[in-house]
Amino acid sequence: MSNGQTADYWALYWRNRDRLKSDDPHFQVGRTVGGVPIDAQNWEFHLGEIESALSLQPHDTLLDLCAGNGMISMPLSLKCKATTVVDISEALLQNIDVQEYPTIEVLVGDLRSIALPPQSFSKGLMYGALQYFNERETIGVFETIYNALMPRGEYLIGDIPDIDRLFQFYRKPEWVRVYFDSIKAGTPAVGHWFKQEVLMSLAHHVGFGSAKVIYQHPNLLNSHYRFDLLLTK
Ligand SMILES: C[S@@+](CC[C@H](N)C(=O)[O-])C[C@H]1O[C@@H](n2cnc3c(N)ncnc32)[C@H](O)[C@@H]1O
Repeated sequence: MSNGQTADYWALYWRNRDRLKSDDPHFQVGRTVGGVPIDAQNWEFHLGEIESALSLQPHDTLLDLCAGNGMISMPLSLKCKATTVVDISEALLQNIDVQEYPTIEVLVGDLRSIALPPQSFSKGLMYGALQYFNERETIGVFETIYNALMPRGEYLIGDIPDIDRLFQFYRKPEWVRVYFDSIKAGTPAVGHWFKQEVLMSLAHHVGFGSAKVIYQHPNLLNSHYRFDLLLTK
């Protein structure tokens, strides 16, 4: 289904500095339910789940794409040798304290056009961001990840909206109305929804040796409508 949003809708959305008026880092990246940011204990649990999916080792070099304000990359950088973070929002990236986390390299850039060093990262993640790329751009994102990873490198694409659970998210008739109205107006609430089989097929098409869907732990904020994908080069 095509929609009426402008080609750069999400880039403009994330470059808008209004979200930085909040001091709450989760609010800044939209990690909220009903407008309420996730609490610290629950977030620790989320971080543990992400870390164990990646099984980070001290020798690992980590690539965090669409890293936002570094809520994930800052703590993970302490578990590996070096971390490179990329985001389109310079304002969000400025929240990353590179004095306190000196192994982090910060790159401001649009993932749709950025050039990354080839075969340079043993691990990586892109959390809560695949939905900001359309079908065509997603192919480019997978290619960019593939090229940046070392042979046998592993990459977690986390928190992907699952098209087969669209109506578990929009589970009330009035929410379904809001959903279709927002698509029509070109101001979608979530972004693109993906089919698991399509992303697994894309991963193989791009060259990944394996692509595994991970169902999120039920305690994770979005587990009722999102899934993770672990790619191995
Ligand atoms: C929901 S936030 C997630 C941030 C972080 N991964 C986390 O989970 O805390 C999505 C991020 O994707 C970034 N983003 C969206 N489109 C992008 C693009 N084309 N290139 C780079 N970053 C982008 C936004 O600026 C934002 O920081």
